[in-house]
Order: sequence, then structure tokens, then C-alpha cells
Amino acid sequence: MDRIRIRGGNRLNGRIEISGAKNAALPLMIASLLSEETLTLHRVPRLADVRMLQRILQNHGVDITVAGKRPGQNGHHGETMRLNAKSIVDTTAPYELVSKMRASFWVLAPLIARCGEAKVSLPGGCAIGTRPVDLHILALEKLGAQVTIEGGYVIARAPKGLIGGNIDFAKVSVGATHAALLGAVTAHGDTIITNAAREPEIGDVADCLVKMGARIEGIGTSTLRITGVPRLTGAEHTVIPDRIETGTYAMATAMAGGDVLLAGARPDTLETVTAVLKQAGVDLRATNEGLRVMRNGAGIEPVNVETQPYPGFPTDLQAQFMALMCGAKGTSVIRETIFENRFMHVQELARLGADIHLHGDSAEVRGTGKLTGAQVMATDLRASVSLVIAGLAAEGETMLHRVYHLDRGFETLEEKLVACGAEVERVVGQ
Ligand code: EPU
Repeated sequence: MDRIRIRGGNRLNGRIEISGAKNAALPLMIASLLSEETLTLHRVPRLADVRMLQRILQNHGVDITVAGKRPGQNGHHGETMRLNAKSIVDTTAPYELVSKMRASFWVLAPLIARCGEAKVSLPGGCAIGTRPVDLHILALEKLGAQVTIEGGYVIARAPKGLIGGNIDFAKVSVGATHAALLGAVTAHGDTIITNAAREPEIGDVADCLVKMGARIEGIGTSTLRITGVPRLTGAEHTVIPDRIETGTYAMATAMAGGDVLLAGARPDTLETVTAVLKQAGVDLRATNEGLRVMRNGAGIEPVNVETQPYPGFPTDLQAQFMALMCGAKGTSVIRETIFENRFMHVQELARLGADIHLHGDSAEVRGTGKLTGAQVMATDLRASVSLVIAGLAAEGETMLHRVYHLDRGFETLEEKLVACGAEVERVVGQ
């Protein structure tokens, strides 16, 4: 297994190109199931999760081609992917595939919409919490599907097609909102989704669906009104820049010190995060090219945060922010309200000398201002990158094990950091 070696202490200076958002690219690829025509996606990040979803969609019969790199093109602009679901050959998503990546469960709604039936394995237990799928099932039932669970599979049927309905979510869920949207756009009649998640990735998928001929109002708000259309066409769409990657490199720059332009970033999709970083003493400026992040000399101030659905502080940046707070000049409290078990980075950060105490859903982080390199273990995607951030500021060498978690969600991480002066190197496993 590959490892990543980090020698801490260097400031970051330069430019990092922000990749397309993983959490938009995955549902956009899934949206291709709704049309017989080709969906062309640009700036799809080169990630292990994208490769895995490619395999899953191919298993359903989606024909996928990936355009090669053009001369002079670097690896940071992702790739262009053409997905054609002219004929769906299999409506079952088996355990072996779905258990590896939760988002693959999201094929359920478009498969029923398109084929009138689908059988999708329940997603595997994920390390960050129990992550049930009751809201996904509720959404599909409101659209007229009959749903049963047998032998670890969700089996849904709507032989006469899905019908529009009112879906009122008791809790905000990104995945269930995607399911409701993907189910409703070709349903017979009108659908109203209330308490919908407002994450920019949902807006991106909705924008793409509109290009495919869907009729959706209220994009970006918590009430989505959909008028079902009989069929969707092909379309061409560019994946939005990854706000979590943007926030991650902003925090890395804040931690290590320096001056980095996050090129192509969309500061309007991470206003809560930039406000929190400014409170912590980081200088951030939106520019024509993206977001410029600077910290020169001054220490980091402690700031309390609580994760919330968008536009609140994202759970996907909680671990990275905790790493930053380990270097602050005082105590901060970080509360995780979305997932009940998303603190696995705490014990790994402790190996680097962090002083963190857990009280239920809150972590009290006593900034030490000084971390020391150590051997650490990646436990999930965002937790692993928090260890990279901490390692950048730690004295001496940090060795991160199990980096396959990182490869699921960060495109060319080492290259991007090295280009800004960090000493980061991948040690390829035997
Ligand atoms: N929930 C339910 N029932 C459901 C669905 C969700 O109770 O049927 C609960 C979850 O257990 C959780 C909360 O609702 O407590 C929110 O979960 P949500 O459904 O919003 O999460 P998700 O759709 O499974 C996506 C991202 C996650 C991100 C969360 C929250 C993708 C592929 N995944 O997951 O991203 O943390 O939204 O923003 O978009 C990551 O990229 O590392 C990652 C985990």
C-alpha cells in the first residue's frame, strides 16, 4: 500500500488549480442513466471514486469514453467523459460494487425512473456513521414506487412509471435530495421537494438536468418545484469547482503560512468557511482567478465552529479545520452535527502532539502551536487530508499510511502541494 511522507515546516507559495467537485461529478455521471442520448461532462476529476462509479455504470450498460489528455494539458483540469445510456442492460447494482462507495446507491432513482424497476444493494456501513437510507426510500415512495428490502437489497418497482408528488424531508440530506430530483424530472406530473439540501453540487446537477430538458424551479433553494417531462436529451456540462478541495488548500495554506492562489475556485460557494478563516486571522481575497489565501507571520486565533448543512460550515471540512485549530493560540470547540462518528482523526492528530478532548459530539481543541511528525493512519477521505495539513506544519517527518482514502477524493494532491514548495512524496507500496 502506498504511503505519503511529509517533511513539515515549509511555507506554501504559488498557485493550485482547483479540480472539478467529486460530489458533483458522481451524481452528474449517474444522471446519464436518465437519457438515451450522450451526456458529455467536462472537468471530471481523476479519482478512484470516479473510476469505481464508471465500473458500476458500465455494469448497467452505460457506454463511457474518456477523452485523452491534449498536449500541454496538465492533470489538474480533469478529463472529458462521454456517457451514453442508450440501453440499460441490467437494473441490479450488486453488493460487491455498491459496498465500496456509498454514492453508487444513488443509481436507484434513475433506474426506476427509466426502467420501472431496480434492485440496489444497501450501501456498506461507512466509517463516519450509520448513514441510513430511509429518506431515499421515502422520496421514491412519494413518487409512487413500491419499495421493499430483501436480502440486503432495496427493490423498487414502478411498472407504470413514477408519478409526481410532494416530498417533505424531515431532515436535510444531500443524497436523498439527489434521489428525489433524479426520480422527479421524468415522472408524470409535478413534484415539490421541501427542506431540500442546498449544497452547490445539487444546484450543479439540477443545472445539468435543465440542459437535458428537465423543468426545475427554485434551484439553489430549499424548495424545488419540478414539472415532469417525458424524456431527457443529451447535454454538455462542466463540473463545478470543488469547494471542499478549495477549503482544504485554504486551511493547508493557513496552517503552513504563505501565499497561494486557488485558481478556478468559486468563493461564493464557501462563504461560511472564508468567514471562519478570516476570524482565525487568515487573509482571504476573492480575485478574478479564484481565491487568494495568505498568512504571513501572525498566529492562528481559535474559532468555535459547528457543522451544518449548506450554507453552514461543511462536515467535509471539519477534520481539516480541526488540524488548523491544533496550531491555534488557544482553545476552540468543534461540534459535529451531521455524522455521529466523524472524529476518527482525533486519535491520529494526537500522535502528532495535538491536545484534543472529546465530549459527545464536540471536540475541545487546545491549540499547542507546535506539532511533531509521526506515523499516522488515514481512516477516511477527509480525515486523511487533515493529517496531511497537520504534517505540513509539524516539525520533522510525518508518514501517512493507507493513502488510498486520499486517492478517492483528491486529484494529484502531492503534485499540487509540491508545486507550492511543500516537501511531500508518495512512497509506492510493494
Ligand atoms: N440520513 C438519514 N437518512 C437518509 C439519508 C441520510 O438519516 O436516508 C442522515 C445521515 O445519516 C446524516 C445526514 O442525514 O446524518 C446527512 O447525510 P446526507 O444524506 O446529506 O449525506 P450523503 O448524501 O450520504 C453527502 C456527501 C458526503 C457529505 C454529506 C454531507 C457525496 C457523494 N457525499 O453524503 O461527502 O459528507 O453529503 O454534506 O456527495 C465526502 O465527500 O467525504 C463525503 C462523505
